[in-house]
Amino acid sequence: MTQADPKKFHIKSFGCQMNVYDGERMSELLVDQGMSAAGNSEEADLVVLNTCHIREKAVDKVYSDIGRLKRKDGTRPMIAVAGCVAQAEGAEISRRAPSVDIVVGPQAYHRLLHLLDLAKSGKKALDTDMPVVSKFDVLPTRGKQARPNAFLTIQEGCDKFCTYCVVPYTRGAEISRPWIDLVEEARALVDGGAREITLLGQNVNAWSGEDDKGRKIGLDGLIRALDRLSGLERIRYMTSHPNDMTDALISAHGDIPTLMPFLHLPVQSGSDRILKAMNRSHDSSSYLAILEKMRQVRPDIALSGDFIVGFPGETDEDFEQTLQIVRAAKYSQAFSFKYSPRPGTPAATMDDQVAPEVMDERLQRLQALLNEQQYAFNQDTVGRVTDVLLERDGKLEGQLIGKTPWLQSVHLISPDLRIGDMVDIEITQAGPNSLTGQITERLAA
Ligand code: SAH
Ligand code: SF4
Ligand code: F3S
Repeated sequence: MTQADPKKFHIKSFGCQMNVYDGERMSELLVDQGMSAAGNSEEADLVVLNTCHIREKAVDKVYSDIGRLKRKDGTRPMIAVAGCVAQAEGAEISRRAPSVDIVVGPQAYHRLLHLLDLAKSGKKALDTDMPVVSKFDVLPTRGKQARPNAFLTIQEGCDKFCTYCVVPYTRGAEISRPWIDLVEEARALVDGGAREITLLGQNVNAWSGEDDKGRKIGLDGLIRALDRLSGLERIRYMTSHPNDMTDALISAHGDIPTLMPFLHLPVQSGSDRILKAMNRSHDSSSYLAILEKMRQVRPDIALSGDFIVGFPGETDEDFEQTLQIVRAAKYSQAFSFKYSPRPGTPAATMDDQVAPEVMDERLQRLQALLNEQQYAFNQDTVGRVTDVLLERDGKLEGQLIGKTPWLQSVHLISPDLRIGDMVDIEITQAGPNSLTGQITERLAA
């Protein structure tokens, strides 16, 4: 079947923020070709599902979403599957879901237009190469930003090979984008209206490069260069790996005011035995030592993490150690997951897979503790006066939602403020998931 020329597209991104970034870049690519963004998939004649392969549930969701794109009148939009499921399953997707027209991996989406042409003429359109010419070199330059808080991918891929994880297979080997490209892209983002930039990478703190004088630098050096961009008021980065947490990066938190006091540093488990089986190459005490150093230079740092419960062989005792490290580390927020065996990863075939009901019970206990810590962290900020960057509209009339430096959401009502404003507020109330604030002073718009 040949397809008509799609004019309106809709991109739906799942998974991590790197997919959000990729989705934005694909959108810019299509707009550059004269297409326009539809508000939803119903109104679109091209739907891109930008997928995640990290856990089984995420993958199941892709297939149910593909099914739901079929319309009541029997028609459907052109369908492209992008992202990590595309990379991991490739041609298998078209077998499971014949209505998929295009399969494009996360390192090949700059070739989307070519794939669209193939699909229009009814040909098979699949590209899961990890090409030498990087997508970053051929994508359009950044234009006006829809949000004041922009994402910028600086590093991609992973060489760590944790035994449970698909990312090294779906995203490929670790690469760092060149310094000059990043400084230029950040400049374009700020010119386009961004006031905050979150630097992204699967192991963002493994970034390395050379500055304009040819000096070898790490993430701290890049952050220092971005700190000098006028108009950029907040810098964040995620996700970090404990092994790449250098002293230079830690001390950057002590003396760069635009670097926000927030650190996402997953530990996964508190049991050294399990960490070893996970091939994490750090242990619980080296993790806690990083936090201690960090809190010396930045006592108010907000800590976030990721946890997996029910990794193969995890005993009650191992799980108790996870609760212990949570108590010792003190999180302001965190993500926790039941272990999901992923095809092709070493852990999937390990002995002693943990029973689902045991995982359920452990996850509940862990989440109860993490929620308690998050609520306590939020309550501790009540009465503080802090700057908030307004990011989106709230549900109520005149309500806006912004973020504190510690990445908490704050609701406030003020009809004369706009998205993108930076305001000083006093935190008046704290709930488990968000804060309420009151304006004390309006900072420069
Ligand atoms: N690079 C980051 C995390 C990337 S994946 C890091 O190393 O910290 C995001 C999170 O998904 C991981 O931190 C982990 O907690 C979770 N995850 C990854 N694979 C998983 C699996 N097979 N089952 C359950 N959770 C998983
Ligand atoms: Fe996955 Fe481990 Fe790499 Fe993180 S460090 S992306 S968990 S393999
Ligand atoms: Fe998912 Fe791929 Fe990100 S598997 S978490 S979308 S790197």
